[in-house]
Amino acid sequence: MFAADSLKRYQQLVDADPDNVKPTLLTNMFRAKEEDKLEFDELKNNANLYIVAGSDTTAITLTYIVVMVCRHSAVREKLVAELSQLPEEFQNEDLRKLSYLNQVIEEALRLYGPVPSALPRKVPAEGAELAGYFLPGGTTVNSSPFSLHRDEAIYPRPYEFDPSRWENPTKDMKDGFLAFGAGSRGKLEDPTRKVNADQETLVL
Ligand code: HEM
Repeated sequence: MFAADSLKRYQQLVDADPDNVKPTLLTNMFRAKEEDKLEFDELKNNANLYIVAGSDTTAITLTYIVVMVCRHSAVREKLVAELSQLPEEFQNEDLRKLSYLNQVIEEALRLYGPVPSALPRKVPAEGAELAGYFLPGGTTVNSSPFSLHRDEAIYPRPYEFDPSRWENPTKDMKDGFLAFGAGSRGKLEDPTRKVNADQETLVL
């Protein structure tokens, strides 16, 4: 219902001034609809997904960050000390530079990421070789962020909420971090990317 209403509102903006409408996630979908590539119902299903993908994920993550910061007084003190350095009129850019804040977010996403379930991928028709195994074309392969994020070989003391582990993350830690998924769906171009304050968002 909300998705359909939002689409109608956006359609009205497009109709009123097609060249000056603010680009949003819906812009390309509307373009596809004009080229008869998407039915209204498909648009609505996509919009539904965007609402869930964009709101539940951030709400769950923020909730866990608050809980974890409240539970761990040492983390709270360190975080408050960093936050108190912010200028009065701070901007998003200022927040990006706060290394401990980013470590806290990273650690909350590791243990309590909102998408811990399997992330399925389909093997291409010609099949693929993975870790010494041949996977026939069309097979669905899943990776599990929940398990990877608790792998002791990658994250020592895996059940401990310890943001400082992200201060100098190893390559395995960065590769094993799947809170936002990985691979082609995440447009991951640089597998050695940093997972700290200067991290690029991998989410569409
Ligand atoms: C804490 C914040 C978020 C987390 C942890 C998160 C996590 C994820 C994960 C795990 C996937 C699946 C990726 C994969 O299959 O490899 C995904 C996909 C997606 N996310 Fe997010 N997300 C977050 C925020 C958002 C926001 C704010 C939006 C939009 C406003 C969004 C839109 C999407 C969309 C559209 C997809 C599907 C991409 C595709 O299939 O190609 N996400 N997200």
